[in-house]
Amino acid sequence: MLKSRLLVAATALSLSALVFAHGKQDDAVDYRMGLMTVIGWNFGPLGAMVKGKAPFDAADFSKHADRVAFLSDQIVEGFPKGSDKGHTDAKPEIWANWDDFQAKAKDFNTQAKLLADVAKANDEAKDKEQFKKVAETCKACHEKYKKD
Ligand code: HEC
Repeated sequence: MLKSRLLVAATALSLSALVFAHGKQDDAVDYRMGLMTVIGWNFGPLGAMVKGKAPFDAADFSKHADRVAFLSDQIVEGFPKGSDKGHTDAKPEIWANWDDFQAKAKDFNTQAKLLADVAKANDEAKDKEQFKKVAETCKACHEKYKKD
């Protein structure tokens, strides 16, 4: 009993050592890039439907809009102080203008949640209109805070 507990404790310790070795800031960069990739993955089909490149499917539209809304809450925590180094496209201006960055993340969050709500009503014209508002919030943040 004691032996196996010790083993579990030792494994947990070496695992946390591994996580630590990778570095918290690197983890944050991985986290936010992963988050953005998943957001982009779900935003893509919405854009295709809005632009008429894919047939409009209300259920599919609603599914992807729900996911984007869910993910939109999690941006700010992916940008802790000091995570402006390494393999990142985030500009240091983010941390110099932290309130503005947070406001831009909040705009996105607000518009993405609205899109998820609008999508439930199954009104193609309104979906398209609201999609554009969300896309503007991505652009507003990228223009200022993401390297090309
Ligand atoms: C509040 C700011 C902000 C908002 C809003 C935002 N992004 Fe980003 N996004 C960033 C930043 C900063 C990066 C660069 C992150 C890095 O490289 O560390 C990024 C990176 C990305 C990437 C590249 C990920 C990678 O692996 O390099 C994609 C794709 C992306 N965003 C899509 C989107 C889409 C789509 C939206 C809107 C639906 C959006 N973003 C909204 C700030 C934002």
